[in-house]
Amino acid sequence: MPATAEATHDVVVLGGGSGGYACALRAAELGLSVALVEKDLLGGTCLHRGCIPTKALLHAAEVADAAREAGRFGVRATFEGVDLPAVTAYREGVVARLHKGLQGLVSGRKVEYVEGTGRLDGPHTVVVGDRRLVGRHVVLATGSYARTLPGLELGGRVVTSDQALGLDEVPGRVVVLGGGVIGVEFASVMRSFGSEVTVVEALPRLVAAEDPASSKALERAFRKRGITVRTGARFASATDGADAVTVRLEDGTELEADLLLVAVGRGPVTDGLGYEEAGATVERGFVVTDERCRTGVEGLWAVGDIVPGLQLAHRGFAQGIFVAESIAGLEPAPVVESTIPRVTYCDPEVASVGLTEEQAREVHGDAVEAYEYNLGGNGKSQILGTQGFVKLVRVTDGPVVGVHMVGSRMGEQVGEAQLIVGWEAHPEDVTPFVHAHPTQNEALGEAHLALAGKPLHAHN
Ligand code: NAI
Repeated sequence: MPATAEATHDVVVLGGGSGGYACALRAAELGLSVALVEKDLLGGTCLHRGCIPTKALLHAAEVADAAREAGRFGVRATFEGVDLPAVTAYREGVVARLHKGLQGLVSGRKVEYVEGTGRLDGPHTVVVGDRRLVGRHVVLATGSYARTLPGLELGGRVVTSDQALGLDEVPGRVVVLGGGVIGVEFASVMRSFGSEVTVVEALPRLVAAEDPASSKALERAFRKRGITVRTGARFASATDGADAVTVRLEDGTELEADLLLVAVGRGPVTDGLGYEEAGATVERGFVVTDERCRTGVEGLWAVGDIVPGLQLAHRGFAQGIFVAESIAGLEPAPVVESTIPRVTYCDPEVASVGLTEEQAREVHGDAVEAYEYNLGGNGKSQILGTQGFVKLVRVTDGPVVGVHMVGSRMGEQVGEAQLIVGWEAHPEDVTPFVHAHPTQNEALGEAHLALAGKPLHAHN
């Protein structure tokens, strides 16, 4: 940093979401003086508009389904409907408790919390109102926003996930534009709450970043749940009229709905914040970094959704911690993108880590084997009444490089899958570990038994 500027802090973090606050907390823990700048609420998208509130909605959806389907398990119950204001109160309660806890962590670790909109003025200075915070290091962590499409104006019945969280009644008909992660999670919630739901996805399949087997199983399950899935369908235009929103597709189809939920991706928040002027490279709005989160400008780092790659809160946490430790001179190992687990919390859940079968074949050619264990053979899944699978992708005579799972609650199994892929385990390394019976976790064990040539509860 220039000799003329006196540092006010060791680290100034711009943005108090998952990446930013994790960085601030870890840096403070390591004895560095830290300022954390946030214009809205500490915790960012994940805590206030993303992961946490949407998973609370998904849990309420699961409870609604449990009530509706209680008879299947021999329990007499009647489903009388969803009281959305009460769901909101429950969701807000969860968020408020976590927010309070997080505020306590930040003040307890003596991080200086600065409320307001920050902007870079050169690589070491963040200006917030009339304050100039000068850091030996500055970490950019300004996150992402819900994108829309050109010509598709938000407002009224046309909403993103931000507004969809705050609905006070269940819409009769919903069109979800985009069958990615947000699209399928909201489609799942709205269907459980009683809406007629249509998902419109331009690509040939839902959750297109996942293994095609997962997309296929999810589409089948959604159809069974009465969700209309239109893949390979491109959006043309929408008109928000007096009684309904009309959505037109490029093939001429018109869909009428009470709500159009736009879930076509999230864009990085980097515009007008002085990043390029400070010397950072910004491409299509994203801040380009090396694998160590360095922007190429001495002392200027970037983490989370503004950095190209998986836009996941847990990636942000990991990168934030990594940068704090780097600044403190600990020389941590970089965050490995390929072993970051991915979970989509619709019903059924879709979880994965590592390579899809296609990706594995691109890397390893024909020396790839895949095995799909059907949850039909798993006792606990039968008890829960869920269908799905565990699919393993391995290098022939080599390690497991990808695990893909579909089924209610299967997201909870991704931790072991991550260790297997991350530690490059061969199926034979996994089989000596006895999996508890009866759990869904056994399905993971059984898949490895089968791939190691000794299937137990598997029909081949
Ligand atoms: P996404 O990139 O996952 O999906 C957007 C979808 O919209 C794509 O499949 C795309 O093909 C489709 N699309 C784009 N333009 C279209 C058009 N004109 N007509 C029809 N379809 C069109 O983005 P999404 O779902 O908005 O999520 C944003 C980010 O948030 C993702 O990176 C995701 O990882 C993250 N997220 C993660 C969650 C989790 O981990 N459970 C939950 C929610 C979000």
